[in-house]
Amino acid sequence: MNFREEYNKKLALVENALEKIIERYSSCPLTIYKAVKYSLFAGGKRIRPILLLTAHEMVGGNTEESMELACGLEMIHTYSLVHDDLPAMDDDDMRRGMPTTHKVFGEGIAVLAGDSLLNMAYEVFLDNSLRHPGNLRNHIKAVSVIAAAAGVNGMIGGQVVDLEMEGKPAQPEILDYIHTHKTGALIEASLKAGIVLENTEQKAQEAIAEYGRKLGLAFQIVDDILDVVGDEDSMGKKPKRDEGRKKLTYTAVYGLEKSQRIAEELIEQAVSQLDYFGDKANFLKEIAYYILKRRM
Ligand code: IPE
Ligand code: IPE
Ligand code: MG
Ligand code: MG
Ligand code: MG
Repeated sequence: MNFREEYNKKLALVENALEKIIERYSSCPLTIYKAVKYSLFAGGKRIRPILLLTAHEMVGGNTEESMELACGLEMIHTYSLVHDDLPAMDDDDMRRGMPTTHKVFGEGIAVLAGDSLLNMAYEVFLDNSLRHPGNLRNHIKAVSVIAAAAGVNGMIGGQVVDLEMEGKPAQPEILDYIHTHKTGALIEASLKAGIVLENTEQKAQEAIAEYGRKLGLAFQIVDDILDVVGDEDSMGKKPKRDEGRKKLTYTAVYGLEKSQRIAEELIEQAVSQLDYFGDKANFLKEIAYYILKRRM
């Protein structure tokens, strides 16, 4: 199987599992059910769940055991996008090729759709942990890794500083804080959560965490680059939004070429961490190059 085929196969498994999870909520008020489904099934890349499943498989895990964790992570990510697009934050009209949730359902329901996805995620995590009593401790560890990464010392912390730095003079250390937290934290957590489900050596955990840190930062640098050079048809969101909002981005601080070079270096450094795993890490290596070359 080539990379694209393998990616699409995992993507289909994730879509299928997400649909089953959301069906469990079909008796809730119709508006919120529709808003949650609209936000979640708009065609994201599903990179975080795919990273989690892949990391777990790489250390000998069975996808059946990590799938709901992967789906919950995607639900947390989707909630972060719904809120990120609100007028009070980035004020964006398009996401994943469709009008943003608040454009279709109004701001109140969009706030609540985000809240719903976040709560559903933890319900899914806890129920799934209970289904694996023999590995309960590792499941709790994985959920704890994700909770920390999504919270005030992770994604939310990054989003706070992202907002606070709009229009402020550039400071490279603060830029790195924003990127490693608003985006890097959940990407690193996807990999770590997959690994901690199995009992692996400390060295394996360190290598995967370092791969995740480099990959996560590179991911957001590429997002900044795409905002400058990308097009709406491929990205599914409007380009050239960061400059108007005076966001602190890599392209604003370093320019396009240097940002591209830094992203390439980070990807090489990320990939080199995978040597520890030998051939078993081939798919993770390819994901790293895909992240660098992506147009969406
Ligand atoms: C977009 O994330 C927001 C960032 C963290 C840069 P993705 O680029 O993973 O978006 P989807 O999930 O594929 O839509
Ligand atoms: C968003 O960063 C990060 C999170 C949603 C947590 P951006 O604001 O740059 O993401 P896009 O460009 O809107 O997807
Ligand atoms: Mg934002
Ligand atoms: Mg945004
Ligand atoms: Mg962006």
